[in-house]
Amino acid sequence: MKTISVINLKGGVAKTISAVNIAHILATVHNKRVLLIDNDKQGNASKMFDAHNYDALSIADVMTERNPDVSQIITQTGYDNLHVIPANMNLLRANLKVLLDSTRPQQTRIRSALKTVADKYDYCIIDNAPDINISVINALVASDDVLIPIKIDKFAFDGLAELKEQIENTQEELNPDLQLRGCFVTSYQRNEVNKQGEEWLHGQKEYPLFRTHIRKTEKVDESTFAAKPILEYSRRCGAAYDYLALVAEYLRGEGN
Ligand SMILES: Nc1ncnc2c1ncn2[C@@H]1O[C@H](COP(=O)(O)OP(=O)(O)O)[C@@H](O)[C@H]1O
Ligand SMILES: [Mg+2]
Repeated sequence: MKTISVINLKGGVAKTISAVNIAHILATVHNKRVLLIDNDKQGNASKMFDAHNYDALSIADVMTERNPDVSQIITQTGYDNLHVIPANMNLLRANLKVLLDSTRPQQTRIRSALKTVADKYDYCIIDNAPDINISVINALVASDDVLIPIKIDKFAFDGLAELKEQIENTQEELNPDLQLRGCFVTSYQRNEVNKQGEEWLHGQKEYPLFRTHIRKTEKVDESTFAAKPILEYSRRCGAAYDYLALVAEYLRGEGN
């Protein structure tokens, strides 16, 4: 199983939209067995699959239970190959509990839990909160690859240096195999700001950049109200083509 963290310290850059659609495309177009982890207490990725529920187990239980039964926490979606570990506001208290419990490792809880289901999935996609908290550190420790969605605006690159530093710390301390696979531009518009922002990203070496950018498409907003992946909601819109291209580019980079 290959684990991919979608992460950026900023909110509203399409982390959730990207995680949901990458997971859905890997499962339905490439026929991979995919586990999507919602690692944000807002639970938006869960809501996209009707999996937001305070009565069900969630990522909070992965964080706090000793030897959690992950197969009990995983829920079905409407898609055979795609399963979800949901999140809700309980994650807030769970994170506090993890930090107060120093009797066992705090940073490896997701990684340990995932080991128990690793043979059931080809890919695990983790949608993260716009933060570096103990949940996000757990995600980085559990991941092979990091993808960074970037929405170009005046503050687009804020927090990138801090994120990179956290990735490097994780590599040094707990997960030498962690790889920053790349950034990709989301909500792309054909205007000067976007062109210059993308050019700047192309020109520097710190952050690898995917060739594919995701066009700004109103259908994406609508798809969140319909709670459907973009391919289901509007297969022919720009963003649907772009997410297909992004996943294909990612897989080519893996040698697939
Ligand atoms: N390609 C796109 N075109 C238009 N709107 C988009 C696009 N990608 C994301 N959005 C919108 O941007 C908002 C933030 O996206 P979201 O994935 O929730 O961001 P994050 O998880 O980073 O906070 C949502 O309202 C979403 O519909
Ligand atoms: Mg989100």
